[in-house]
Amino acid sequence: MLDGSYVTFFSTSGSEANEAALKIARQYHIQNGHPGKHKFISHYRGYHGGTSGAQNISATPAFKGKFGSSSPGFIHVLPPYSYRCPFGDSGSNCDLIFAELIDQVILREEADTVAGIILEPFLFAGGCIIPSKEYLTRVSEICKEHDVLLIVDEVITGFGRTGKMFGFMHSEDVQPDIVTMAKGLTSA
Ligand SMILES: Cc1ncc(COP(=O)(O)O)c(C=O)c1O
Repeated sequence: MLDGSYVTFFSTSGSEANEAALKIARQYHIQNGHPGKHKFISHYRGYHGGTSGAQNISATPAFKGKFGSSSPGFIHVLPPYSYRCPFGDSGSNCDLIFAELIDQVILREEADTVAGIILEPFLFAGGCIIPSKEYLTRVSEICKEHDVLLIVDEVITGFGRTGKMFGFMHSEDVQPDIVTMAKGLTSA
């Protein structure tokens, strides 16, 4: 749930909401004595908007390919696409392998350099990829283990569009550190 401990920062679009989230996450780590935590992990095939920072975290070829590579410090991981699982597994087990790979990426990058993971709970522009419910729960645990903020982009999935108020609510024990939202907020 989104309890009363959240504060709200208003901006004018989904892209700007994500820009603000990136800065807030870095600011959080600076103020907590970990200024080296600056990198962001996001999904290949994810889409988070058209502004500069949002392009860096996005990795959907159709919306990004022409504009070149991401800036340093923006790392992409495979999305939890278990249909034709590349690991020869099937169903939710496959998604959990994708989650464990995030753990490995954080370790290799060194956790004290990683500020946050930003993800759509269901990837939309990248091809309507629906992970198992367990995936986000495991990613959330991994974030806590490494003091990495979990930023959930609910720009597409928020406000009831997946059957619950927010997409992350399909998964148990997930309390994102930052939730970004836009479109459904104004029925736009
Ligand atoms: C998941 C997601 N995040 C962010 C954005 C960017 O939102 P906006 O177009 O309002 O800048 C979009 C736009 O489609 C989106 O699908």
